[in-house]
Amino acid sequence: MQKFLLVAILTIAAGGAAQSDPHTDYLLYCRGCHLHSGEAIPDAHIPSLHELGPLLESPEGREYIVRVPGVSQTPMSDKRLAAVLNWVIANFNIDTLAGNFKPYTADEIGLIRQKVLVDPLKTRAAILKQ
Ligand code: HEC
Repeated sequence: MQKFLLVAILTIAAGGAAQSDPHTDYLLYCRGCHLHSGEAIPDAHIPSLHELGPLLESPEGREYIVRVPGVSQTPMSDKRLAAVLNWVIANFNIDTLAGNFKPYTADEIGLIRQKVLVDPLKTRAAILKQ
């Protein structure tokens, strides 16, 4: 009986990994801090994930979103991370997104995530002041 249960659990886990989708990855890797809804938690200095539109208007802002530690350091492949960010943008930011937005690609993520930000809030403020 125990063996059967173990096989069932492993089968479900493997199936889940093979069919990983960006919403599930968001729930697994981002929700712990950003909540189900992506809303801000000011007391914990967690920003809203609904205000990325203005950041995405400059190349620096587009990079910033990938460089924040919670994103760049997440234990996810470049491809899955690109899909999660594109999911966050499409689901939480569609109202403020510029019409010419191009989705993140895995190659782009791979290059940018190597440049991890140590002082995200300072960088964010500088980008939005430009
Ligand atoms: C351990 C908590 C934590 C996790 C997990 C986390 N984040 Fe964050 N995130 C933060 C904090 C805190 C900030 C504010 C910048 C900083 O201090 O790093 C932030 C900033 C951001 C920003 C920049 C928003 C802005 O307007 O400045 C984005 C985008 C983001 N996170 C997306 C994600 C995504 C996508 C994931 C999952 C792959 C994720 N985060 C996982 C805590 C987390």
